[in-house]
This record gives sequence, C-alpha cells and structure tokens, in this order.
Amino acid sequence: MGRSESETDRLIEQSVLYDDVTRRFLLRSGITKGMKVLDVGSGAGDVALTLAEFVGPEGKVVGVDLNADILETAKTRADAAGYENTEFIAGDTRTLELPSDFDAVVGRLVLMYMADPAEALQHLTTHLRPGGIAAFQEVDFSPYTAAVHPDTPLINDLVDWGRTVFERSGAHVEMGMELYKAYVDAGLPEPSLHFEAPMGGPENWPGYAYLENSFRSILPLIEAYEIATAEEVDVDTLAARIQAEVSASKRPIMLPPHITAHATLPS
Ligand SMILES: C[S@@+](CC[C@H](N)C(=O)[O-])C[C@H]1O[C@@H](n2cnc3c(N)ncnc32)[C@H](O)[C@@H]1O
Repeated sequence: MGRSESETDRLIEQSVLYDDVTRRFLLRSGITKGMKVLDVGSGAGDVALTLAEFVGPEGKVVGVDLNADILETAKTRADAAGYENTEFIAGDTRTLELPSDFDAVVGRLVLMYMADPAEALQHLTTHLRPGGIAAFQEVDFSPYTAAVHPDTPLINDLVDWGRTVFERSGAHVEMGMELYKAYVDAGLPEPSLHFEAPMGGPENWPGYAYLENSFRSILPLIEAYEIATAEEVDVDTLAARIQAEVSASKRPIMLPPHITAHATLPS
C-alpha cells in the first residue's frame, strides 16, 4: 500500500479500528508480562506498542520491518509513549539474523505479503524457544460475499475493487482462511482460530474516513490495473457516499475481516 506519510497515517487509523480485535487476539494467544516478543512487519509500530504494554517493562519487544522509514515513526511513537522495552530493526524477516530465544512471534497483516507464507512462518518460528507462541492476525476477503447486496451498489464496487487490487498485487487476499494450512505445512501444531470484523452503521463511525483514505492510497493501482477510473471512484466524496448508502439501505458496512491464529510449540 505504499510507503508515504499518508500511508503511515492510514496504518495508524487502521490500528485504532482494529485495536480491540488485536488486544483480544494477544490475550487469548497467551502474551503476558515479562515475555520477549518478535513483531514481524511492524509498520508504524501499532502492534509493537500494544505488545509493549502487554509484556510490561520486564519484557521486551523487537519489531522488524523491510521499510526503515516507517520504523522511524514506530521508534518515535514508542519513545513518546515512554516504552523503553522496544527495539526496531530494519530488514527482511525471511533472512534477518535474529536470536532464537523469543517467547512469541507475532504478526498482523504481514504473511499475506509473503510469497510462501508457510515457508516464512517456518523460518520465523526458528526464533522461538521451545514452548514459544506463534500468533498471526491476517485479512480475509472471502466473507465479503455475505455483505454484498443489491441495495448497496457502492459498497459492492468497493469490495470488488479492493479485493482485485490486492489480488493483482500478488497479496494473499484469503490469508486468514489459509492460516491453518500455513501452520500445518510449516510443521507447527494446529492453531486455535478466531474471526472478527469491525462494522459501521452510526454516522460518526471513524471507518468511513478510514475507507476513503484506504481507497485514496490504492487509487493509483486501481487506475494502473484499469479496474476503475478516478471519476468512478471519486475518492474525495467516498466517506460521505458510503455513509449515505449505509443510512439509506440500513445495511452496515463491514471492514476487511481478520482471522487470528495462535499455537504453542512443544516444550
Ligand atoms: C499492512 S502493514 C502492517 C503493519 C503492522 N503489522 C500493523 O498491523 O499495523 C505490512 C508491513 O509488513 C512489512 N513487510 C512485508 N514483508 C516483509 C518482510 N518480508 N520482512 C519485514 N517486513 C515486511 C511491510 O513493509 C509493512 O510495513
């Protein structure tokens, strides 16, 4: 989704909407005080910041991302929040040399960008101690078939455009449903799985603005792949038009569903 300042803002906005989903996921995964956790594909640091809170000052969070620039934002935010238990390292998690004594490896919206998620997962878990936790939260577009409806033509278009852009970019748009296979193919124990999606109905729901910004971010790709024109997307009026459609159809809009998986390695 790009590496610009507005993309960093969009990631932070996204994290606010999914924050409670991620907190519940970390809690049931068993992330707790004193743990040393690797955050894979940290981005602007939202998962790392939440992890820093979960593990407390006696724990440690190491965040890794390909994008050194966005990690500067993560570092600044961790410093501003007063977390002294975070460290951010720029590099590719598939090849970066890291210790093998982590209590947990965590990632959100990152396996979806790996060419071979099972292989990436298998490598990532080599950084775990025996009895360590592998916990991943990934998007899945397939449940959107339940949200598409004749009364919501704009939402139907957005679902189609969004999914197609990610597919054409090579991302795994059904990574959530593929998590089970990735764990098993990586030789890990069968994971516990959960499914959640924030939904918007009320006029003041922050997801409308988030969706507009998300489509602003992918608009160049929508045009490049000739999925729709800028006029059809009309991005500057998108939040207002989605809200109006929800209000008129009385059908709530669903943000991309996330599926979470966690498994504990044998001790
Ligand atoms: C959609 S963002 C998610 C950021 C963060 N996990 C969150 O949920 O807010 C995906 C991030 O994964 C990073 N990424 C993708 N492939 C990676 C790899 N092989 N190694 C390290 N980082 C990677 C990207 O640079 C990007 O910052």
